[in-house]
Amino acid sequence: MKKTIFTFTLLIAVITNAQQTLLTPDNIDEVIKELTLEEKARLLVGRYDNGKGVPGAAGVIQDIERFGLPPVALTDGPAGVRIAPTRPGDTATYYATGFPIGTALACTWNTDLVEEIGAAIGNEVLEYGCDVLLAPGINIHRSPLCGRDFEYFSEDPVLAGNIAAAYVNGVQSNGVGTSVKHFAVNSQETNRFEVDEVVSQRALREIYLKPFQIALSKSNPWTIMSSYNRLNGTWTQSSRELLTDILRDEWGYDGLIMTDWTDGRPSAERVYAGNSLLMPGYAEQETDIIESVRNGSLSMEDVDRQVRHVLDLILKTPHYKGYSFSNKPDLKAHAALTRSAAPEGMVLLENRDSALPIVNPGKVALFGRTSYDFMAGGLGSGDVNKAYIVNLSDGLTNAGFQVDGRLKNYYEAQRNLREKTKEIAGEWSADFEPVLSDRNIARLAEDNDVAVITFGRQAGEWADRHIDNDFNISNDERALLERVTEAFHALGKKVIVVLNTGGVMETASWKHIPDAILLAWQPGQEAGNAVADVISGVAFPSGKLSMTFPLTVSDVPANNNFPTGSGSDFGDARRNHDYTLHDEDIYVGYRYFTSFDKPVSYPFGYGLSYTEFEYGKPVVRATRDGFEASIDVKNTGNAPGKEVVQLYVGAPAGEMEKPVFELKGFAKTAALQPGESQTLRFVVNSMDLASFNEDSSQWQTEAGNYRLMFGASANDIRATASFNQKKPLTKTVGNVLQPNRQLNRLTRK
Ligand code: BGC
Repeated sequence: MKKTIFTFTLLIAVITNAQQTLLTPDNIDEVIKELTLEEKARLLVGRYDNGKGVPGAAGVIQDIERFGLPPVALTDGPAGVRIAPTRPGDTATYYATGFPIGTALACTWNTDLVEEIGAAIGNEVLEYGCDVLLAPGINIHRSPLCGRDFEYFSEDPVLAGNIAAAYVNGVQSNGVGTSVKHFAVNSQETNRFEVDEVVSQRALREIYLKPFQIALSKSNPWTIMSSYNRLNGTWTQSSRELLTDILRDEWGYDGLIMTDWTDGRPSAERVYAGNSLLMPGYAEQETDIIESVRNGSLSMEDVDRQVRHVLDLILKTPHYKGYSFSNKPDLKAHAALTRSAAPEGMVLLENRDSALPIVNPGKVALFGRTSYDFMAGGLGSGDVNKAYIVNLSDGLTNAGFQVDGRLKNYYEAQRNLREKTKEIAGEWSADFEPVLSDRNIARLAEDNDVAVITFGRQAGEWADRHIDNDFNISNDERALLERVTEAFHALGKKVIVVLNTGGVMETASWKHIPDAILLAWQPGQEAGNAVADVISGVAFPSGKLSMTFPLTVSDVPANNNFPTGSGSDFGDARRNHDYTLHDEDIYVGYRYFTSFDKPVSYPFGYGLSYTEFEYGKPVVRATRDGFEASIDVKNTGNAPGKEVVQLYVGAPAGEMEKPVFELKGFAKTAALQPGESQTLRFVVNSMDLASFNEDSSQWQTEAGNYRLMFGASANDIRATASFNQKKPLTKTVGNVLQPNRQLNRLTRK
């Protein structure tokens, strides 16, 4: 009897004790002590869907009730929240707003705007009951053929890093988290789980890690996602050098590191490397962690270190704080935001004789199948389930244009036919462009005031892009453009091309044909309205390219070392499949084209406007840590507009070879009316002028005269100045992540 009472009392004590150990910010150590090994493993291994997350979201961190640890819901981005729009047995809908793709955001060069969009996306994360948004993606645009470039920002680390920080700050202003991904060098989709990206330490530091480093210095993302690929021989997820030596110890990151959604890799080594959360997570991985601790191959300290990051994160989440979400974010307000923001990322590539804007909307012949099937965003985990996409045909109609009905019917009939016979909507390949007879085109030219032709391109996760009928325009598209232009020009009427793409396209061979080319990107769910706003002059385009448009794909320095369907040798390990050599080294994007004096179709930073800008004389002032520069920009044209000024810096000749110049700062004016001007300011730290010297594992800023170039693009420098760095500066870091294969590094020597 006595024994029963004792056991009963003990049981009560255990229960009471358990109830008292609910996690609070002050008792993390205690909770870690009390968690069993099984519970710790449970925290380190997520689930794709255990019924406790948000339907259609990407995953959850598992809950542990006795410590008051709620499930934590992770959902994809970056163009908005990706959850299921409907739920079984529920008549409500859960559509999220489709915002412009990452590339379009970067082309705004407007960190305030990106922060505002981030804040709206974060609000949807919160109100749909999620805790962490798996975005932004900030991998470098190494090749225009990467299938996921549309999610990523730029070929330049300074632009990508600053846009990322703005995005993170915006989303997290709602008290929800972000995951900056994919760390690192996830620059191709082909064989993405296995491919070994072989990169020099210098290119790694200066190009591929830099955007992450900048983003972390200007924002505090709750999480970072380690990528799928290998880097210099080791999976990034298993690389302690990358995740612990660099990210944690060198950069001081103390948030949570989660793996990208990977199956079947050793768990213990990934926890040891620095991941706190294995996603999407399987029961066997928990067992693996438990057994590894028991057999001594993983230490409890390593487990506890990562568990602490999970607990730290949980404490910040809306779920932990008991936020009562509405499932009703203000979708109308967000739709208005996406519409007004999209033109800021659209790039006006050509505008002969002020073909745009068309201020008196008239009759428009709208060509190209994509005009009637406009694409708001890309495919894969970055695809948002939005309630609608405004087609260009509807957008132009809303703007007061009369869209030719016969042509509209023709394209819609072609689509229906195509859907029935071959492909599904939205996934038509570019080699199919319905062919119209010359007679029909001539009649359309007679009956309409202007022609608009849309060329569309879709891409996404899993696959890299093709060269033919994808990067290059197809024969059908070229024929359409030529024949329509001939017919309309014969009657003195203009032809506008709209590019509805997530990635770069070849333009050099055809850009002289139409009167204007508007690169609209994939501008979010209000696409058609936003494009029509720009065409009609209700809004003006103010985007500039965040990447170079080369003359041909073979001009891209990475081209020989990127999966293009050719160039792979089928030996034991296939080049560009099992391993990819970054022979172009630091010469990515404009760093290559400008340093090697290669012509391009449109340079990095390029974009026309409906007006003209004049740059004043720059003023430079040395500061304690570097310099501050300012320049006046004046709208000297006849229409309102915004100008992006890029600050490129050329280093003095020194020990290391360097690109002729590199972007070190940028700024965008507010909307300037004709005659109005604004002073733009740039702050640069001398340490940001450093290059990475592999021989000494040092960042080095050499002393001497630095040339400051204020550009309207990388090929259009409008004003120059200089800055004298009095003393050399160095910072020594760990000699880690050495390449495991021989590289034939591009050099100017
Ligand atoms: C993608 C990530 C994404 C994750 C979760 C992966 O396949 O690479 O970007 O966040 O899936 O959906």
